[in-house]
Amino acid sequence: MKSHTRAENNQARLQKKVKDLQEQFIGLLHALSQTIDARDPHTRGHSVKVCQYALAIGVELGFSPHRLERLEIAALLHDIGKIGVEAFILSKPAPLGELEMAAIRLHPLLGVRILESVEQLADIIPVIRHHHERYDARGYPDGLGGDQIPLEARILTVADSFDAMSSNRPYRKALSPQEALQELREEAGTQFDPQIVEAFCAAFAKGKIMVGTQEVV
Ligand SMILES: [Fe+2]
Repeated sequence: MKSHTRAENNQARLQKKVKDLQEQFIGLLHALSQTIDARDPHTRGHSVKVCQYALAIGVELGFSPHRLERLEIAALLHDIGKIGVEAFILSKPAPLGELEMAAIRLHPLLGVRILESVEQLADIIPVIRHHHERYDARGYPDGLGGDQIPLEARILTVADSFDAMSSNRPYRKALSPQEALQELREEAGTQFDPQIVEAFCAAFAKGKIMVGTQEVV
């Protein structure tokens, strides 16, 4: 067996350190995303589910491991701006008024403000900013449409909406996964990028998307 040189050993130690740091970073992001979701009792576990659905779409689209890693970070942080929205608005068990809706709609921009000082997350910022745009340009905050919206943001919109539709909310019982898929298909080309809806449906058909108490793979 070939003996390892000191340089090789140092290299291996360094690689392990980098891997440990990456794992710690992702662990911290999971903890942070749970803190964000906990402010609204109806969205517990939301960011982690959005993350799992988004990754399934990314795999379906043939993303590289690096691109999947960046998508994972964006998905875990997508609603970080909700930290700046009053908790009573987030958890209000009644329809929101116009001002309250406007406050909620600020969260992508608040997210950008929170993260913009972190140079290493510069590529994530546009994804956070545009995760509530619509394919038909009727979303917010900038009213971008089609390919103007970053691909990762279009992925998050589909993942986010599927989780919202398939979870219980104060005014609506959860749709079944099949019903939620049907809604996605009906809104393909208006709210959603048809290519992303297709990738999500393909991942679902392969058993990569599971909802409720089941594990998501
Ligand atoms: Fe959001």
